[in-house]
Amino acid sequence: MDAAAVSSFDGQALDHVLIFDTTLRDGEQCPGATLNTEEKLAIARQLARLGVDIIEAGFAYASPGDFEAVQKVAEQVGSADGPVICSLARALKPDIEAAAEALKPAAKPRIHTFISTSDIHLQYQLRKSRAEVLQIAEEMVAYAKSFVDDVEFSMMDATRSDPEYLYQVIEAAIRAGAKTINIPDTVGYVMPEEFGQLIKGIRENVPNIKQAVLSVHGHDDLGVSVANFLEAIKQGVRQVEVTINGIGERAGNTALEELVMALHVRRSYFNPYFGLPVDSEKPLTHIKTQEIYRTSRLVSNLTGMLVQPNKAIVGSNAFAHESGIHQDGMLKNRQTYEIMDAQTIGLQSSTLVMGKHSGRNAFRNRLQELGFHLSEQDLNKAFIRFKELADKKKEISDLDLEAIVNDETRPV
Ligand code: KIV
Ligand code: ZN
Repeated sequence: MDAAAVSSFDGQALDHVLIFDTTLRDGEQCPGATLNTEEKLAIARQLARLGVDIIEAGFAYASPGDFEAVQKVAEQVGSADGPVICSLARALKPDIEAAAEALKPAAKPRIHTFISTSDIHLQYQLRKSRAEVLQIAEEMVAYAKSFVDDVEFSMMDATRSDPEYLYQVIEAAIRAGAKTINIPDTVGYVMPEEFGQLIKGIRENVPNIKQAVLSVHGHDDLGVSVANFLEAIKQGVRQVEVTINGIGERAGNTALEELVMALHVRRSYFNPYFGLPVDSEKPLTHIKTQEIYRTSRLVSNLTGMLVQPNKAIVGSNAFAHESGIHQDGMLKNRQTYEIMDAQTIGLQSSTLVMGKHSGRNAFRNRLQELGFHLSEQDLNKAFIRFKELADKKKEISDLDLEAIVNDETRPV
């Protein structure tokens, strides 16, 4: 589908992408990341400050603790001008009832109900026929709709399901009142172009598709979930389900910060798919990007899940430069080696790390920042000492630099 066509339809005609954060549900569902209600509330408040559109606060039926967390988030974060608060529910009446009950305090409640559609799940997990699942999907969406207006429906393992069958299930779910249709890549199996084609097929073959917002949910088993989502967005998807720092089951979920910053930094590339002029500065999400780093730290601290140093956007090395050539370029013009400003995600600035790859220019610059203005001769001597030390130590601290300068410039 070309960019012009995307702008001419309804449910997918939004000129921005809705950010559905599932850190508190799917994100928490990974070994070691368990959060108590107070911690979930702290994260939910920060997610609201970050500007996410929907918070999936938990799976109300799963445990009393989950029920309480959904209820408390609904009560304390789910105000009329805040985000939509959502609870997951299997396509079963008791699940839907628990979700509806926990969500009562929310001004904008959403029930997210799901059932598997792939033959392997039908045969081994559900032990049901396609016809039975189709009927359950329609009935349970209608049942959820009897409690709340905003119902989302997901087909678990959609990317390994027969597309013709998906079309039938989606059509039935929309007929029953689903406002959002979510396509999960549950096992992180699909490739970007295939995902785009699947979305295109859905839009071309489901007659009532315009009545719903199309959404995607992804896991990162093959490391391509952000690329998958970007391709899906190009084909008209207008809601993405993501977690902070990409935490989640197995290799994790699609990372909010990566997806949002790709849309932000490359908006001229994506604008036409939203019916916007190439040079439009209009943000493509509601996220306040300056809150990204703070949110990442909070989630990491509360879950105890460390962020790898080279993680895109929020890793400790994401805005650090060590190579001499890069540092030299950065000192002349930051854009030589940086595609985004560290302040955009709420960091003070990028850093030039002093190590064995650093050059004389970066060395002199750092010394000047520390208040040392050396003669050329002293600088040369200090630089030799610095290189000797850098061969022995991974990173040279400001204290190391001070010691070197004091040694080299001290009168003998
Ligand atoms: O991965 C998945 O399929 C899910 C669904 C419940 C949306 O998390
Ligand atoms: Zn998932």
